[in-house]
Amino acid sequence: MKASLIITAAGSGSRYDRNLNKLLEKISGISVIERALNVYTETALFDEIIICTSSNFLEEIKSLTSHISHSKVILGGETRQQSVLNGLKECSSPDFVAIADAARPLTTKEMIIKALNLAKEKGSAICAVPAKDTIRRVDKNGRITDNINREGLYNIQTPQIFKYKDILEAHIKFQGENATDDSYLFQKSGHDVFISEGSYQNIKITTKEDILFAEILLNDKK
Ligand code: CTP
Ligand code: MG
Repeated sequence: MKASLIITAAGSGSRYDRNLNKLLEKISGISVIERALNVYTETALFDEIIICTSSNFLEEIKSLTSHISHSKVILGGETRQQSVLNGLKECSSPDFVAIADAARPLTTKEMIIKALNLAKEKGSAICAVPAKDTIRRVDKNGRITDNINREGLYNIQTPQIFKYKDILEAHIKFQGENATDDSYLFQKSGHDVFISEGSYQNIKITTKEDILFAEILLNDKK
């Protein structure tokens, strides 16, 4: 059984700070992307690691990751979806592929192992947690239009792990859409998607305060 890993790191971090690359920001001395990569390499579950980055940071990411064996840095695309497709095309026909955000520095080994085992059994597994907040749809005038029952609502995270040939097919079929996650495309092309246990600590660095949250969570673990 061969498994590949795609790390998406080609975003512009527009909700963070245009002058800083959020993935190179440090949390207790180690950058966000290195923390994300470390946990995946520690599992030793992946035969190859494809890191998608933007042209601005290509050289920097290459030198940061040159010590990781079986890793390759490639150019991502305009959208996350395009970055993932570029990554999928670089994979050397694995049985399974895990797709993970470089912006999630607190993913754990247990999460990855559990998800890969479930994906082997079911064909797919994505990390998620039950939604804590009540979520409503609101129109342009600030008026609530939809009442969505929280029961059965989940916050979707990464890693997301799929049978390689099926996710590649889905990405090719729906190329040019702008899906923010891969399970959407996988399901749209007719496959079932299964939830694996994520964690409320598996946060995505999106805005400035997320670095502070990550630091607090990390100190709490120590
Ligand atoms: N990503 C990517 N290629 C893109 C856009 C995003 O590889 N064209 C990556 C990001 O680098 C990040 C992950 O996908 O690791 C999740 O995306 P997000 O948190 O939205 O990051 P950004 O797109 O960089 O941030 P923003 O949406 O605020 O611009
Ligand atoms: Mg984005």
